[in-house]
Amino acid sequence: MSMDGDLIAIVNKLQDTFNAIGGDAVDLPQIVVVGSQSSGKSSVLETIVGRDFLPRGQGIVTRRPLVLQLIHTPGSTSTSASASASAPAPGSTNVGPSTNGYSLTPSATTSSVRRSPRMGGAMLGDGDGYLPNLEHTPTAGAGVMRPGGHKMGSGGAEYAEFLHINRRFTDFDEIRKEIEAETYRVAGQNKGVSKLPINLKIYGPGVLNLTLVDLPGLTKVPVGDQPTDIERQIKNLVLDYITKPNSVILAVSPANVDLANSDSLKLARSVDPRGLRTLGVLSKLDLMDAGTNALDVLTGRTYPLKLGFVGVVNRSQQDIMENVPMEDARRKEEEFFRNHPVYRNIAHRCGTKFLAKTLNGVLMHHIREKLPDMKARLNTLMGQTQQELNAFGDATFLGEQHRGSLILKLMTEFSKDFVSSIDGTSLEIST
Ligand code: GDP
Ligand code: NA
Ligand code: MG
Repeated sequence: MSMDGDLIAIVNKLQDTFNAIGGDAVDLPQIVVVGSQSSGKSSVLETIVGRDFLPRGQGIVTRRPLVLQLIHTPGSTSTSASASASAPAPGSTNVGPSTNGYSLTPSATTSSVRRSPRMGGAMLGDGDGYLPNLEHTPTAGAGVMRPGGHKMGSGGAEYAEFLHINRRFTDFDEIRKEIEAETYRVAGQNKGVSKLPINLKIYGPGVLNLTLVDLPGLTKVPVGDQPTDIERQIKNLVLDYITKPNSVILAVSPANVDLANSDSLKLARSVDPRGLRTLGVLSKLDLMDAGTNALDVLTGRTYPLKLGFVGVVNRSQQDIMENVPMEDARRKEEEFFRNHPVYRNIAHRCGTKFLAKTLNGVLMHHIREKLPDMKARLNTLMGQTQQELNAFGDATFLGEQHRGSLILKLMTEFSKDFVSSIDGTSLEIST
């Protein structure tokens, strides 16, 4: 398996296999965004997902954790070889055009101007041309959300559900409004922050099973209804999420503030001292003082992180107010790095697309590391089944026995299939 394989296809295949015999295949890392207030966390997260749906803006906007679960559903564009074996999410099959008249189809999105079919997709992957060897295949573009996976009327559609409300959303503007309303409902009107998460699930055939967490920004001075110990409260809230060894920390630092003062790196270091699961994100590179640059940070000379630093340029407040589409912003970002006198030499490892590619690599690495464990679990399950079969053999229920061995055979085939698709080795069956 190469790092640039189709992440969605592989994970789904694993998941399908394990679903068939009971159990979860891979516990993918949870991606958690950390940073000071207004450093660009929500902006970064939403470009990774590839959809405009998070409240962003000046000041304290994110005031409750948002736990965003992306859930793959079988669909006609699914690349899963055995999608039918996976347990379908509620109401996941053939979701037709939305019930509320809105649509996620790029051309029909209300705020879109001239989005290409690729709009919004391919963010946790390479679909925009990183991998020439995959470009021509229909499975190219593994992403958190992938182009082609969200076409209404083509057999599968994206929709979202909140835990707190019994309604299905298909319009991302409405999702943002609901996040805002729900934030107000619990955290009040006046800058209060609540630990109580908002849970949002986005279902779709072009989606990778993955959880991303947006968090309130680290802050020092209480404002509005915030308690005097707001700094400590938010710090503890963030720690709740990033302490988990299974989380990947996206530590966002704005490039126009000295890195030595980066709250996100300080906090990340406290739970990941060797910098093994912290990915540095340097935002606002467009806002640095003239004559200064962040080359030393981006090339790893300033601060050591195993996963490195990726520089990004998100939409400015002006862009947000003018509803600049995500794809336009991304194009502008690419031009920024390509034309920059200092960054143009490292432009290929800058920007949102590269950030997504890096995250893709992190997830692939994680899966590969878990493979031996997954194999062992499969072996155990199959050993147990074999014992049950042997027990059946002592009895005289020949019909049952026949059925049992068929199940074993299916399982074995399944497992061989997925293991060889992952790393080319065959599975040893411990019976
Ligand atoms: P958060 O508070 O960390 O979630 O940050 P947001 O994503 O809400 O962004 C805060 C403000 O900074 C918004 O007005 C964004 O438009 C702006 N912003 C974020 N990243 C960038 C960037 O890379 N460049 C520019 N110019 N503005 C940015
Ligand atoms: Na903000
Ligand atoms: Mg935010």
